[in-house]
Amino acid sequence: MFKVSLFADRAKPVAERCRADVSTRLRLKYAPYYNVVEKADGVRIVVNGRPMLMMSSNEYLGLTVHPEVRRAAKEAIDRWGTSPCGSRLANGSRAYHVELEDELAAFLGKEACHVSVAGYMACVTSISCLAQRKDVLLVDKSIHASLWDGVRLSGAEVERFTHEDMRSLEASLARLDPGVPKIIVVDGVYSMEGHIASLPEITALAEAHQAFLVVDDCHGFGVLGREGRGVADHFDLTDKVDLIAGSFSKSLASTGGFVAGDRSTIEYLRSNSQQIIFSAAITPSACAAALASLRVMQREPEHRERLWENTRYLQGILRALGLDFWESPTPAVPIVIGDKEKLYLIWKSLQEQGFFTVMSISPGVPVGKDLIRAGVSALHTREMLDRFGDALKVAIKKAGFKPRALAA
Ligand SMILES: Cc1ncc(COP(=O)(O)O)c(C=O)c1O
Repeated sequence: MFKVSLFADRAKPVAERCRADVSTRLRLKYAPYYNVVEKADGVRIVVNGRPMLMMSSNEYLGLTVHPEVRRAAKEAIDRWGTSPCGSRLANGSRAYHVELEDELAAFLGKEACHVSVAGYMACVTSISCLAQRKDVLLVDKSIHASLWDGVRLSGAEVERFTHEDMRSLEASLARLDPGVPKIIVVDGVYSMEGHIASLPEITALAEAHQAFLVVDDCHGFGVLGREGRGVADHFDLTDKVDLIAGSFSKSLASTGGFVAGDRSTIEYLRSNSQQIIFSAAITPSACAAALASLRVMQREPEHRERLWENTRYLQGILRALGLDFWESPTPAVPIVIGDKEKLYLIWKSLQEQGFFTVMSISPGVPVGKDLIRAGVSALHTREMLDRFGDALKVAIKKAGFKPRALAA
């Protein structure tokens, strides 16, 4: 028998840590996150029996309601069942994985592609497995959490450069031993800021210093470039980006992710990535929805056109209200408030007026940049965006928040 410790009747420290966690207590008290959506039809949702308008999703093209996409997902289940129930290394790839990978690679102008269960996984894979201990990762400070996890897992040296500051990147590169392997890591479109990466400068620096370039294009794919080919295509620099990581959960109306690059890079990942080798493959319905969306996206440009019209329209509304949207040129629209208490009051008022939004607070965003992260969709109408503008006006007045233009 084991000896009974004197401390056996005390709470387990880890369980106690969970019970006492301040951010969890605050979250449960004010309930800003994890609200249950009882019904969803595109951007029209129902929460607590009350109709609301979704203003914070990443459903850029609105294809979750497209009949062809819905049909494809259902038919895939009828044909293949619900899951491959294992990793591709162990249980084999399925024809639907390969079909999607081939079409994605051709669309992106890359030789090969690998699809996985989440954009998060794709981003972790794209760094953790490529970078080795003595390599140097040059990382924009605002990259997504998934890339940071990849950075940590890799164990490589890290040089952070100031967000979108090319001098800072150049200075870091100049300090390094020219012989050391280097990887530059950026987002194509930064998820909180909505900023587009300065790829012309970044690719030029990457070439000059023989640095491998990884771009997380979760928010550029479907939005920028010809037919939505993404940020590399937008700048006509596809050949200069070594690895593109992306997600199916935004423009492609599904869940899952991909990495695309040279065949040798993708095959290297398949041999070496823990995330690829030891995790089950993406499901048939998720692949089918992504593939159908990819085809619709190329055939029906009207979704992207409406997305951009709506983006410009919302920018006009925010400008008229004097609100700071961090000069985001994309449908990822931050509404910067900068004061946590006022931010909460604004968020709450929007909620009460029927608008579902999400707050992003530091350290998720830089100190003083606490914001409401709005996301524009092709499914929004002008009338919806006008109503959102009216609700914002009420909310900022109620919170006593003075927008920049009004404060000046
Ligand atoms: C920039 C960026 N990278 C990666 C991800 C992860 O993608 P997924 O939601 O498909 O896991 C997200 C998701 O929000 C993102 O915004």
